[in-house]
Amino acid sequence: MLRIRSTAAAVLAACLMLLPGCMPANTADAPLIDIECTPTPVPTPRLTPTPTPEITPTPAPAATALPGGIPELPADLDPTKPMVALTFDDGPSRKTERILDCLEANGGRATFFVVGTQLEKFPEITKRASDLGCEIGNHTYDHANLTKISGDEIRHQINSVNELVLNATGKKVTLVRNPYGAGIKDEHVKKYMEYPMIMWSIDTLDWDHRDTDKTLKAIRKDVQDGSIILMHDLYDATAAAVEVIVPELIAEGYQLVTVTELFAAKGYPLEAAHYYRNAHPKD
Ligand code: NI
Repeated sequence: MLRIRSTAAAVLAACLMLLPGCMPANTADAPLIDIECTPTPVPTPRLTPTPTPEITPTPAPAATALPGGIPELPADLDPTKPMVALTFDDGPSRKTERILDCLEANGGRATFFVVGTQLEKFPEITKRASDLGCEIGNHTYDHANLTKISGDEIRHQINSVNELVLNATGKKVTLVRNPYGAGIKDEHVKKYMEYPMIMWSIDTLDWDHRDTDKTLKAIRKDVQDGSIILMHDLYDATAAAVEVIVPELIAEGYQLVTVTELFAAKGYPLEAAHYYRNAHPKD
């Protein structure tokens, strides 16, 4: 895109050099460009090649990297030891409190991808999660499928939740999880996505079966260093599974960290409009 812009600028600049004078001031269609209008003589002879203006190469875009690059790790996190990120979508709800009780009692953290309509009902629960060191991510205002809405609507879905989270917790959101996992490879969605899109490596399907044992089984089967585990803080069956798996994972030597901590500890930068399914160690 930068190259296209530079080329367009070069063409425009070259054209202007050939014009006798400047752009007409009263042409309705004239682009609004701030150009000094000193009349210049018609270049002679006209076929003399116009020197191509020198274009300074623009450095690789740094705007996609999060400010500050890889964040600092909390003191209690050992990057040399295994870790997983428990993630909960679609809350907050009253069930979130039971999950927070368990995390607090065991000394673990998680990431909550909240929806705006729920956050409006339970801002104090999200505030408590944040105060406990949990991370709050963005799951859109009303669980929108981002592939089916306009760019302005995508922005509104994300920005309104960012504002609600900031008001509730005093902290800025830096992660998005697209509802239904939709649009992570969609150019329209990516164009308007100013945050990393966090997917998962273990889908417990807790929302579907609402069965504690099935949730536990899904986690135990596939958990490994760098896993991102998907659950929903809307169901008693999920909260019951959390009460079993949190002490179990800790006893197995896993650190329960937030998504941002997970990627920082593994040394993987998170970039806007990119998607991530896990932070498994490099081979
Ligand atoms: Ni969801």
